[in-house]
Amino acid sequence: MSPDTNFIEIDGQKIPFTPGQTVMDAALAAKIYIPHLCHYPGLTPSGNCRLCVVQIGTKTTAACITPATAGQQIVNDTAALNEARKSITQMLFIEGNHICPSCEKTGNCKLQAMGYYLGMLDDHFPQFYQRREIDASHPDIVLDRSRCILCDLCVRASREIDKKNVFSIAGRGTDAHLIVNSASGKLADSRLEKTDLAAAICPVGAILVREAGYQVPIGQRIYDCLTIQETGLQESIEDNNDG
Ligand code: SF4
Ligand code: FES
Repeated sequence: MSPDTNFIEIDGQKIPFTPGQTVMDAALAAKIYIPHLCHYPGLTPSGNCRLCVVQIGTKTTAACITPATAGQQIVNDTAALNEARKSITQMLFIEGNHICPSCEKTGNCKLQAMGYYLGMLDDHFPQFYQRREIDASHPDIVLDRSRCILCDLCVRASREIDKKNVFSIAGRGTDAHLIVNSASGKLADSRLEKTDLAAAICPVGAILVREAGYQVPIGQRIYDCLTIQETGLQESIEDNNDG
């Protein structure tokens, strides 16, 4: 163990961290799952989905943007926190048009998998039924903003990994929406390619690669076989192995 290693405690389990790691980084490295949607290993955390809410002392905070500090006593896997996470998930569902049985992302969707993981049995809140613009201008990729949960993952993936800056989030509050940074505002005029991380990273069915949706049959998809807890831990192991 390196000499600069420190320790934090999550649900009574003592785990090491290295300076610069967030609580989320340290937890995943120790194979402790903290529910998350907008966190992705290797991308700058944005802290916008709030699924990773944990309690440190009397405060609740987002684990993905909170630096690990020696001696922190963190509460993560409790009925109360998971209930709060379920309410956040329900709000994400009603803000968009997430009609799982007719969405080609079903079984591969992190929002749907999070609903299952947290025992979500209904939407609880009234549906918004909002209509946002669909961009079908690109030969290989379709963007359906009505399913976008504004997680910012495509924005960060395009900027930080693909080096293209194809997407941004404009507006605030209920007016917030995803925009395409091209002269026409359309995907066809952007540099987005179907091999880009930004085209693959969407946790829901908002960014879809054409002619790929049914290559894996329903029943054999990611979350038909694994829980989001298992895939969340797996993603972090793969990132650590990539160095
Ligand atoms: Fe997130 Fe997908 Fe919306 Fe991009 S399009 S912000 S990845 S939900
Ligand atoms: Fe931490 Fe989304 S995973 S706020």
